[in-house]
Amino acid sequence: MLAALRSRKSAPQGDRLNFTRSMAADLARAYNIEDLRRLARRRLPRMVFDYYDGGAEDELSLQGNRAAFERLRFAPKVLRDVSRVSTGCEILGAAANLPLVIAPTGGAGFSWPGGDVALARAANAFGIPCTLSTATTATVEHIAEQAGGRLWFQLYVLYDRDYTAKLVARAAAAGCEALVITADLATGGKRERDFRNHFEVPFRLGLTHILQACTKLHWSWNVVTRGVPAFENLRGLVPPGKASADAIASSVGRDIDASLSFEDVARLRDTWKGKLIVKGVARADDAERLIRTGVDGLWLSNHGGRQLDGAAAPIDLLPSVAAAVGGRVPIVLDSGVWRGSDAVKACALGAQAVAIGSATLFGVAAAGEPGARRALAILTDELVRTMQLCGAASIGEITSDLIAS
Ligand SMILES: Cc1cc2nc3c(=O)[nH]c(=O)nc-3n(C[C@H](O)[C@H](O)[C@H](O)COP(=O)(O)O)c2cc1C
Repeated sequence: MLAALRSRKSAPQGDRLNFTRSMAADLARAYNIEDLRRLARRRLPRMVFDYYDGGAEDELSLQGNRAAFERLRFAPKVLRDVSRVSTGCEILGAAANLPLVIAPTGGAGFSWPGGDVALARAANAFGIPCTLSTATTATVEHIAEQAGGRLWFQLYVLYDRDYTAKLVARAAAAGCEALVITADLATGGKRERDFRNHFEVPFRLGLTHILQACTKLHWSWNVVTRGVPAFENLRGLVPPGKASADAIASSVGRDIDASLSFEDVARLRDTWKGKLIVKGVARADDAERLIRTGVDGLWLSNHGGRQLDGAAAPIDLLPSVAAAVGGRVPIVLDSGVWRGSDAVKACALGAQAVAIGSATLFGVAAAGEPGARRALAILTDELVRTMQLCGAASIGEITSDLIAS
């Protein structure tokens, strides 16, 4: 773990030049995830920063996710021996150093070359699983080879079902231990910041984008010297071309099959030999049906507020879903986890682990792999402090009575 906290020295070889001394200094002064977000904003052109930072429509769910965690208060225990704290735990049947998982974030390489590898390597260094998005900017095979560790593969079920089946087979061959089916993207969320910025994948650079890029020299230099990043797993996929002329331009969700159903999950259950998780669950009745379908885990999420605006914060839904699930399968929760204390709150209310999307993504955007490690180091430090201050010496001692009613 200590080795993982050293950031600059452990930058991968190819990143040494890219990771500057001033970035190292900035990282050392980043004390929380909001600090990393500010660094990301400073380094990225607006269209990329907004793609990472934005939510759907009025961003009610985006803001609500943080607000829901902030509303929860602790009822800490005192006079417990917390001189030694262990954050070791089990996630989906295997040991992990922390109750954390990296959530899938498409386009990590839009901010930093090799951004997806950076995230996976940081996760491996911290002993936690990393979920690779369908929409990574390097292939699943490349990331697995470069990063190792516990990898989960997130699946968007595409219009092209043959292509989808091949993706699943590639993830299995690359050694991914779990398949995470994302169920909350029947269509793209209405992300208005992306519309305003004319953000599209693959990038179509207009004059405004070029002017934005001129003020972000580090980012621009990388794009010029290493090329414009693309969704490498999806090369050769032919878009369905169903957008009408007056549809509001968005590439989010364009390739995804809105007919996805419980039957599809059952079919994938039959073919996928590893662990199977469904991401984007919000309700006890859906959880029940999925358990009967044979999933190994449930992932409560509102996609970080990027899909259905007005969707409730998963942390608010957790107690009722956890009560219905009754420990039959583990629950992972994401959306709004920006503090180590958020992980403690979620574990207290019934999650086995929390997943992190923006927090580590801002780290990568600020400074590549050392930035991702810094994000994880910040969350680890906060997690341990919160456990000590709550009187919990192990993850097992994080119980529901730690949350004030
Ligand atoms: C830039 C970005 C890209 C994302 N891409 C994906 C994706 O490809 N697949 C997916 O299932 N979720 C994706 N998500 C959602 C995350 O997996 C996760 O649910 C969300 O980020 C959690 O909220 P948080 O950002 O507050 O941690 C993305 C999130 C962000 C911020």
